[in-house]
Amino acid sequence: MSEADTKLYQPDAETAKSAYVAGMEAYQALVAEAEADYEGYWGRLAKELLSWKQPFTQVLDSSNAPFFKWFADGKLNASYNCLDRNVENGKGDKTAIIFEADGGEVTKVTYKDLLERTCRLANALKAQGVKKGDRVVIYIAMSIDGVAAMQACARIGATHSVVFGGFSAQSLRDRIEDTGAKLIITADHQVRGGKQLPLKAIVDEALSLGGCDSVQKVLVVKRSGAGVAMTEGRDVWMDEALAGQDAVCEPEWVEAEHPLFLLYTSGSTGKPKGVQHSTGGYLLHAALTTKWTFDLKDDDVFWCTADIGWVTGHTYITYGPLALGGTEIVFEGVPTYPDAGRFWKMIQDHKVTVFYTAPTAIRSLIKAAESNEAVHPKSYDLSSLRILGSVGEPINPAAWEWYHQHVGGGRCPIVDTFWQTETGGHMITPLPGATPLVPGSCTLPFPGIQAAVVDETGKEVPWGQGGILVVKKPWPSMIRTIWGDPERFKKSYYPEDFKGQLYLAGDGAIRDAKTGYFTITGRIDDVLNVSGHRMGTMEIESALVSCTELVAEAAVVGRPDDTTGEAICAFVVLKRPRPSGDEAKAIAKQLRDHIAKEIGPIAKPKDIRFGDNLPKTRSGKIMRRLLRSVAKNEAVTQDTSTLENPAILDQLGQAY
Ligand code: WTA
Repeated sequence: MSEADTKLYQPDAETAKSAYVAGMEAYQALVAEAEADYEGYWGRLAKELLSWKQPFTQVLDSSNAPFFKWFADGKLNASYNCLDRNVENGKGDKTAIIFEADGGEVTKVTYKDLLERTCRLANALKAQGVKKGDRVVIYIAMSIDGVAAMQACARIGATHSVVFGGFSAQSLRDRIEDTGAKLIITADHQVRGGKQLPLKAIVDEALSLGGCDSVQKVLVVKRSGAGVAMTEGRDVWMDEALAGQDAVCEPEWVEAEHPLFLLYTSGSTGKPKGVQHSTGGYLLHAALTTKWTFDLKDDDVFWCTADIGWVTGHTYITYGPLALGGTEIVFEGVPTYPDAGRFWKMIQDHKVTVFYTAPTAIRSLIKAAESNEAVHPKSYDLSSLRILGSVGEPINPAAWEWYHQHVGGGRCPIVDTFWQTETGGHMITPLPGATPLVPGSCTLPFPGIQAAVVDETGKEVPWGQGGILVVKKPWPSMIRTIWGDPERFKKSYYPEDFKGQLYLAGDGAIRDAKTGYFTITGRIDDVLNVSGHRMGTMEIESALVSCTELVAEAAVVGRPDDTTGEAICAFVVLKRPRPSGDEAKAIAKQLRDHIAKEIGPIAKPKDIRFGDNLPKTRSGKIMRRLLRSVAKNEAVTQDTSTLENPAILDQLGQAY
């Protein structure tokens, strides 16, 4: 971003006047308040935004850093904060969720309905033996039941771990084993794009793979009604479990640090890690960021299109909007079914005012709209919209401009929100009534978040110079630990290189020389971001080499992709001679299917290239940076003098 072509989009007059954070001065005042009295700032907000059963007396406890504690002697309940208090405040008949199913059927639930549903489910969980501190795995598609299941766990102090419905039996098994879950909540099927896909059958398979002895019960929601195998004594239909359960369930008041959920995400090495989040600090940031970043008001209709299987669905579907007593859309299906106008039609039908989605979705809908006017946003009435959001990956300026012009009618601010599973909520983001926008930049830290760009020694680099993104101070919704692996938590996020003093995000960033605005330059570790889904190259490599009859060696890298942001590119050495033509295609398909089975279809590589070998140094190390150039079909310009077998680059380059 050169300064000459930096175009600033000022907040529209209406939002700048009426927003919770109205204008840059208001933003600066919050930043200054946090700087002057960090704990006072967060303590004030925690009191204002959350209802505490027992007030906290200490805001931040750093005595066992980096295992920070927030509001530790306070007690609260997340489900009480999201449901009961809204009913108590006269919002019982307000619509909490507007659910639209894959086929377009709409169901609405009020706060009173959702509270009752959650309480009955919570009582059913208790009846099945689930207690405070137990883990519950939720493997279900987007639904009111999914949200209620998470809320019900929170209500009784059980820690939920939602597994995205696109993960395979093997991945599900690994997560069940790692959490030691006592109970699983699933559905017979999920429906996506008119297709019925199994869920319960995958749970059965996962449990049959072994290592899941902790699981005592499986509760099954009827979605398709198409009939599934039920194991006597273990599997229970949700309807039956709910029958006769009381619609009142006293919340379990938990300590603020009580683990609300575990969510697995990919790192640069080894298996996925269970990111542990707290109740108090997490819920504070979920509510606060929903309030300030989306400026969520009482009459807004908020729609976050993420799946509850990812962190975005946790914070901006299950917790944030409900904690504020908002009305939100939950949708089942895909953006391109029944056609690529689905998002625009739903915005029109439900008069959505705040819309939050991922750049990948926008890019694929741009393509569809360019070739078919009927699914172009201009064919719909989108005048209800007032704020747009983007999340999960960098948004390229061209997609930003299109989103701004065609979806937002040139009037809606776009909040490009940078954050991570580990951060719990927004870290660097514009505030719609305050921050002048620059396409492709997530602009400035959320008030109270102390983000910085540093060099390898942890020293801040001057603006205009790229470096490593860190956070200088702990914040309430930060990851507490990696479930069962505190050492890995320390190493991954508070590395010795920075003397354990800085939170390492894992992304590179650069600040604009003049404005100080942040632009995220991408992961600096071996984590890929494909369609906003986070995946470790090592995980995919392990899945490939686990196909022992075929694969001798594999290396996986990312390469830029116009639609999915990044695409997975795998270089494979087989245990047989390098194939070509149809044989290569057939083996590539076999390997893709194998990866889908090991991890899930989202991890299938776009390119698979076969070689006699991989580029290695004389000491046998695979030179991934060279593979990245080859994957991009670029001429290799890097120094290859340490390469043992330079000819291999030509072979791999031609293999495409
Ligand atoms: C990337 C998703 C650029 C980044 C909420 C981060 C982004 C990873 C943005 C976390 C953004 C997320 N601009 N990059 N606005 N938002 N990322 O854990 O690389 O699934 O580290 O959390 O996504 O992905 P995760």
